[in-house]
Amino acid sequence: METIQPVRGTSDLLPAEKARHNHVIDSAKQGAAQFGYAEIATPIFEFTDVFSRPLGASSDVVAKETYSFEDRGGTGLTLRPEGTASAMRAIISNGLTQTLPQRWFYAGPMFRYERPQKGRMRQFHQIGCELIGQAGALGDAEIIACGVHILKSLGVLERTSLHLNTLGDSESRDSYRAVLIRYLEGYRKSLSEDSQRRLDTNPLRILDSKSETDKEILQDAPRLKTHLTSEAEAHFDAVKQALDAASIAWVEDPFLVRGLDYYSHTAFEFITDQLGAQGTVLGGGRYDGLSQTLGGPPLAGVGFAAGVERLALLGEDMPGQRPDLALLAAEKTAEADLFALGCSLRDTGFSAVNLYTGNMGKKMKAASKLEARFAIIAGDDELGRGSVSVRNMQDGVQTEVKISALASWLENVLSR
Ligand code: HAM
Repeated sequence: METIQPVRGTSDLLPAEKARHNHVIDSAKQGAAQFGYAEIATPIFEFTDVFSRPLGASSDVVAKETYSFEDRGGTGLTLRPEGTASAMRAIISNGLTQTLPQRWFYAGPMFRYERPQKGRMRQFHQIGCELIGQAGALGDAEIIACGVHILKSLGVLERTSLHLNTLGDSESRDSYRAVLIRYLEGYRKSLSEDSQRRLDTNPLRILDSKSETDKEILQDAPRLKTHLTSEAEAHFDAVKQALDAASIAWVEDPFLVRGLDYYSHTAFEFITDQLGAQGTVLGGGRYDGLSQTLGGPPLAGVGFAAGVERLALLGEDMPGQRPDLALLAAEKTAEADLFALGCSLRDTGFSAVNLYTGNMGKKMKAASKLEARFAIIAGDDELGRGSVSVRNMQDGVQTEVKISALASWLENVLSR
C-alpha cells in the first residue's frame, strides 16, 4: 500500500532527529533574541498572490515548485515556500508600517516541489530573521552579523564561508541586464537549456548556473559591479566596511544572485563544501521593493533564512536529549516505589525515565542506551533503609543516598 510511506521529499522527525532540530531552532531563537529579534508565526498557507508576485513568476520556486491549490471555496492558496513574503504581508495587514523597524525571528516548515536529495526536501524547515523598515548598510551588516552569531552558536561557522554580492538598485540592474543579454546572445546556442530559457525570462539568474559550459562562458561576461549607480556602490562599500569593522570574513562573489526575484543591493550566502550539492546553509539579502509588489507602501527590508535540516546535518556533534536519571527497580516489589520516586523527582525539575522491562542487566543496558547521567537503583533492602543506590553512569561509582536527601544530592552532582 503506497500510503504507508511518507510522501516523497517529506520525512518523520523521530526522537534523535527532532532533538537535533530543536537544538538548532532553540539556539537560533536565542541568538536572534540577543540581537532583539522577537519570534513571530505566520500561517502555513497564504493567498497564492502573496508569493507569486514578490518571488517572481519566472523564479524556479514560483514557476515549478509551489504547492498551490484551490480550497473548497475556490480560493487560490499556496503552502508557503519561504517566510519573507509572509512576514512583509503580516507587516502590512497588521498595520505595523508606522512602528518600524520591526525585528522578527521565525521557525517552521516550508514547502517546495523540488527533486529530493540529501539536504533538499519537499517539506523542510527554516529559521529566519527579518529586519523590516530599516534602510541603510548597517541593517544589512546587522542581519549578516546575526547569521554569523547563530552559526557560531551552533558550532558550524568554521565550516562555512560567507559569499557576498550586490545586485544594485533597479537602475543598476536595468543597465547591466541589457549588456549581459548582448554578451550572452553571442553564446545562446552553447548555453545550457535552462540558461537559454532564462536569457528570455530572467537573464541575471544565468550568473549562478551550475553548468560547467555556462560557467566558462560567464568567465568573460561583463560584471554588474561596473554598472552600479554611485548610490548602489556606496551602499555596498558601507556594508563591507561594517563587516570588516566587526571582523566578519567575507568573499566577494560576482556570480551570487539568489533564486528569488525580490532582492536588491546586498545578497549573501553562507556556503559549505561539506554537504555535497546542497551547499548553501543560510542565505538572504535586502528586499526593499517587496512591500510594493504586495501592494503595500515602499518599505526597506533585509533578512535571511537557513535550512534546519542542513544545519542539523552540518553540526554532526550536536547534543541529543539525555535524561538526568534512569530509575531501575531491583525487584518487582520495589517497582511502585520507584515509579512514585520518578514522579516526585520530575516535580523537583529532573528529567527521569523509569525502566520497567527485563532483568537488571537489561535495564542497565537500556539506561546506557538512553545516555542517562545517573541510574537510581533500589530493591526492598535499600527502600527499607529509606535509601536508593545512585550509579554515576560515566565512571560506574555507586553511592547509597537517603531518599530524603536525594534531590539536593543530585542537584549538587549534576550542576558540576
Ligand atoms: P532560500 O535561499 O530560498 O531563501 O532558502 C534559505 C535556505 O533554506 C537555504 O539556504 C537552504 O538552507 C534552505 N532550503 C531551501 N530550500 C530547501 C529544500 N528544498 N530543502 C532543504 N532546505 C532548503 C529564502 O527562503 C529567503 N526567504 C531568505 C530570506 C529571508 N531572504 C531575505 N529574508
